[in-house]
Amino acid sequence: MKGLILSGGTGSRLYPLTYTNAKQLIPVANKPILFRVIESIRDAGITEIGIVVGNTADQIKDAVGRGGRWGVNITYIQQEAPLGLAHAVKISQEFIGEDPFVMFLGDNVIQGGISKLISEFATSGWNSQIVLTRIDHPEQYGVAELGEDGRIIRLIEKPKNPPSDLALVGIYMFDKSVFEAVNAITPSWRGELEITDAIQWLVDNGYTVHPYIHRGWWIDTGRPGDMLEANDLVLEEIEYKIEGYVDRDSQVGRRVTIERGAEIINSVVRGPAIIGKNTRIVNSYIGPFTSIYHDVLIENSEIEHSMVLEHSVIKDIGARIQDSLIGRNVTITRSPIKPKAHKLTLGDNSQVGIL
Ligand code: G1P
Repeated sequence: MKGLILSGGTGSRLYPLTYTNAKQLIPVANKPILFRVIESIRDAGITEIGIVVGNTADQIKDAVGRGGRWGVNITYIQQEAPLGLAHAVKISQEFIGEDPFVMFLGDNVIQGGISKLISEFATSGWNSQIVLTRIDHPEQYGVAELGEDGRIIRLIEKPKNPPSDLALVGIYMFDKSVFEAVNAITPSWRGELEITDAIQWLVDNGYTVHPYIHRGWWIDTGRPGDMLEANDLVLEEIEYKIEGYVDRDSQVGRRVTIERGAEIINSVVRGPAIIGKNTRIVNSYIGPFTSIYHDVLIENSEIEHSMVLEHSVIKDIGARIQDSLIGRNVTITRSPIKPKAHKLTLGDNSQVGIL
């Protein structure tokens, strides 16, 4: 089998973070989501992986390379415009050839990996397998309606009145019949070739599409709230290890990872939390569910349930920062000059909550 990861899109729901950064490269528990996707495909025994890229192609290629680090071969497939998931399949036909494949959206995080799903599909004789999960707001996703026998009756993309609470997770398995489907369908109201319509076409034309119901957590990291939630969930499952330096005046909880070159000086870190490479935490408090990426300085400050990306500085902040997503190269400090006021330089679409 082959793997196909979709890593295009504009990430507009995550502005301003994604003005300068592909959304798939935002780290969850200090590892880019895309790397987590590559690892779960590799762990299922697949080594030939195609990545469909859009206008952030250069960044993705720089970060991922040819895949040697994971023991896989990566082929890049350029999508000229975000014309839909089924369009991405269409342009990947040459790479896929006659092989069955798993398609994984590069911004999805799922509990427990996909090894079992892949081995089941590989031996099943099904034409496709889709992954469904019960959620509270299915209208934001593709939704499946199943019959009493458990078979798929209908799939609808973002329905106003969802016929069920079963959302389509961004992980799909296909054999070559999907190429017939993607060539037969026409663009939806949003101008995209929808994968949901292609799967409906398979169902309508007598192909077997098996619905697998996933019971663990699943997150499509499309919005800032989702990103923090994904970070919470993944932080509870990582392996905790102390590879950096913790001085004698600091307290570090059991479920904490301190990466190499990091320093914890006279501070408290409560887990689950991760402190990235070469980051310094000085006279500070890092609370649960916090990921601080590499080369960050946090000094005389308190922060919890937050994510801080690389090369940022948080210094001398009186109030505790929480529920926050802080980008790269950001500086938050107490202004030394009078008058006493908040002094902000924020990018477009930033959101700040001030007391
Ligand atoms: C896409 C699919 C949708 C699926 C979702 C999963 O939505 O069209 O059916 O439920 O991914 O993440 P989009 O990200 O294009 O809004």
